Amino acid sequence: MSPAAAPNRALQSPILMMAKRAAALRAEGRDVIDLTLGEPDFNAPEHVLDAARQALGSRLAYSPSNGIEPLRRAIRMRLKKDRGLDVDDDQVTVGCGAKQIIFNALQATLKPGDEVIVPAPYWASYPAMISLCGAQPLILPTCAAEGFRLTAEHLAAGLRLAKSPKWVVLNAPGNPSGSLYSERDLQALAEVLRQYPEVLVLSDDIYAEIRYNAKPYLTLASVAPDLAERILLVDGVSKAYAMTGWRVGWGCGPASLISAMTTVQSQNCTQTSTLSQLAAVAALEGPQEFLAERNAIYRQRRDAALRVLRACDKINVSCPEGAFYLLPQIKPKIDDQALALELLYAGVATVPGSAFGMPGYLRLSFATDEASLVEGCTRLVRALGTRS
Ligand SMILES: Cc1ncc(COP(=O)(O)O)c(C=O)c1O
Repeated sequence: MSPAAAPNRALQSPILMMAKRAAALRAEGRDVIDLTLGEPDFNAPEHVLDAARQALGSRLAYSPSNGIEPLRRAIRMRLKKDRGLDVDDDQVTVGCGAKQIIFNALQATLKPGDEVIVPAPYWASYPAMISLCGAQPLILPTCAAEGFRLTAEHLAAGLRLAKSPKWVVLNAPGNPSGSLYSERDLQALAEVLRQYPEVLVLSDDIYAEIRYNAKPYLTLASVAPDLAERILLVDGVSKAYAMTGWRVGWGCGPASLISAMTTVQSQNCTQTSTLSQLAAVAALEGPQEFLAERNAIYRQRRDAALRVLRACDKINVSCPEGAFYLLPQIKPKIDDQALALELLYAGVATVPGSAFGMPGYLRLSFATDEASLVEGCTRLVRALGTRS
């Protein structure tokens, strides 16, 4: 590829493309409610901002590629407290968001011809990153009737089908499904994984703190500790602490993988911002009560949006248990990309479900104020009503 070659459109983020279109229409003076981005509309908590202000007074020099020691310590403390996991210092590495951590892991381990099992609906970046590493995403569809969860039977079938499976991706609460796995689900998946000792598991827990029931969060590494040696747990401050732009995420897993990921990190951007890492320490060590308060607000918005959407007979929509997305299915089956464009001109920006492996669906983010969200859903319902 020549340096001037246009970037492959298939690898561009469809979410960012829709957000850009919405912004362009708004710049023209149109009234468009943007339900595209997976970005909390809250700010980082005040004590985090204070810590950052204070850190500005110190010398913000280069820092280690695996993250500053106080942050690695704070990550291990939270993993112990929140998920009962004992993690050694050499099992943690920090990067520019969960996104870069996932990319580093794939880049450190994949070779052309390798396959990565990705359940659909999926976060749009997984297949793009896998392709950028020269490997193949092997998509396993899930369905609403199974709560959009990967079942042990499907995983076993996918692994039998794969020629060179390297990773299995698990993401719960899922983007865009909002689904969680029960202990029994995870035990069943673990049982299948035990038969494939060479396969690694990418457990993307970035939405772990955004949940709408009182049950404790379960991650594969705590349910099946015998598999911990091949699980990469991924998390970060973007969603829980509303710190998307600070770019701090981390991976916890086997020391050899972590070391390989840190080497990749050291050659692409050295480290994520030292200032952001100091702020992330304050986020992880500081009070956590605001999480429940924000979740109550997200939950109220979710329910308000569901009331509007469920009143429409052209929509089927599940109630998400976590994260902040709704994934309505439009009936009868439509071209979701054409519909998303049509909706832009009807004043609501959404992301076509095909971006997440779910043609015929739309993704709506409810990380926006309730009035705009309800109005956006009302515009969607009204636009569907005018279609033949
Ligand atoms: C499932 C999932 N994983 C990872 C990320 C990346 O998060 P970060 O901001 O930490 O890079 C996102 C962001 O939208 C996501 O939805």
